[in-house]
Amino acid sequence: MEKHLENDLSEIGNLLETIKVQGLSYLNALSERKTSVDQEISLQKQKLPESGYGTEKVLEIFNERFEPIIVGSSGPRYWGFVTGGSTPASIAGDWLASVYDQNTQSTKGQGDISAGVELETIRLMLDLLGLPERFLGGFVTGATMSNFTCLAVARQWIGKEKGKDIAKDGISIPFKILTATPHSSSLKSLSLLGIGSGNIVKIKIMEGNREAMCMEDLESQIKELKGEPFILISSGGTVNTVDFDDFKAIARLKNKYPFWWHIDAAFGGFAACSDETKHLVEGWEFADSITVDCHKWLNVPYESAVFFIKEQYKLLQVETFQNSNAPYLGDPLENFSYLNFLPENSRRLKALPAWFSIMAYGKKGYQEIIESNVTLSRQFGRLIENSNNFKLLAPVRLNTVCFTLKETADQEKVNIFLEKLNNTGKVFMTPTFYNKHKGVRAAFVNWRTTEKDVELVFNVMNEIIETLKQ
Ligand SMILES: Cc1ncc(COP(=O)(O)O)c(C=O)c1O
Repeated sequence: MEKHLENDLSEIGNLLETIKVQGLSYLNALSERKTSVDQEISLQKQKLPESGYGTEKVLEIFNERFEPIIVGSSGPRYWGFVTGGSTPASIAGDWLASVYDQNTQSTKGQGDISAGVELETIRLMLDLLGLPERFLGGFVTGATMSNFTCLAVARQWIGKEKGKDIAKDGISIPFKILTATPHSSSLKSLSLLGIGSGNIVKIKIMEGNREAMCMEDLESQIKELKGEPFILISSGGTVNTVDFDDFKAIARLKNKYPFWWHIDAAFGGFAACSDETKHLVEGWEFADSITVDCHKWLNVPYESAVFFIKEQYKLLQVETFQNSNAPYLGDPLENFSYLNFLPENSRRLKALPAWFSIMAYGKKGYQEIIESNVTLSRQFGRLIENSNNFKLLAPVRLNTVCFTLKETADQEKVNIFLEKLNNTGKVFMTPTFYNKHKGVRAAFVNWRTTEKDVELVFNVMNEIIETLKQ
């Protein structure tokens, strides 16, 4: 055995103890850690040395080069993009997933336990989100891959409607995708799947500062298709203003027209955890497929998302993802196996962080996280609304505040303001463009965020505006 490897083996206890202490010091100081740094990583030009350093020394190198410039993106004031953190239970599950290093493939013969854990976690997630058990699902790396997985099965469904097996024979038939305000990752998925992001029919959005689709326009566009099957991609929370399509109305259309209904509810799906907000997703249970991201509002470490696809489409799903020329992997239809059910073959014990977290905190724990984030975003929205320096670009519908400067004559100022704000390292937000205005998005997704954080950030924002006036 190589000498460093041998030494690491005998020192594994001390190594893990050191990592635990370091991990704790990161977590305990997360609230104070800067949310941005101005220092860039200096990438090594040198080649990998013939003989390695051993883990203790590598940790030293990591701590010297990378650790000091890691930002507190899993902390309470990282409001950019849609960024969750990690609950203690999810970190425990994540660590164990690495320690046990299982391959989550099938329920028979390969990674049996971990595939079982995943199936169970999917059921628990359905319960958390109030969805019926007629959905089957699995874990993928993020909402992008979840959208991809769902749309791949949708593609197979369209083919079957037209007498083709697209997974086998390729796409030989054109078809349309109807959508109003899709997330960019759905367009990316359409490109990857050979459907083509250009084959979208854009549905008008509703009037009155909305991003949700106009149902009259949707129905008239459907009529234009003259009975041809199509895919509908709807939003369970748009990324800018968290607007929701009318799922109850879409469900009614399912009885009249042939379409595969996909919902991207990457983060908005968690509205289902609270009685106050669950009306936003009412009717989503009638969709054919749903995307939900766990590394967002479930607050488990990256990379974790689920797809839910109705169990009645299991055969289409296996046709899409089967390893058809590999007898050593078993008959794809005989035993349930994740390797014939989603894009990857070998995967880690992906569900374990989510399983730990939902088992540890239950429905009540998640209801509180969601309600707290919603309350904080409303509170931040009210501060913006009543301010002399800022104004809302859209109402606060769930957990995101989309705003701009009150003085809009010079749009460039929005960028200058945001750059200065992010440079403070006290908070991080992302830019956007909404309703012909440059704006800023603040998304509340982290379980650690408190009222004090909102006050702190609002004070910093006003201080920056004062400096811009000088
Ligand atoms: C609505 C929606 N869908 C999909 C995604 C893509 O998620 P991921 O980066 O986890 O792939 C996002 C990310 O913010 C999102 O907000």
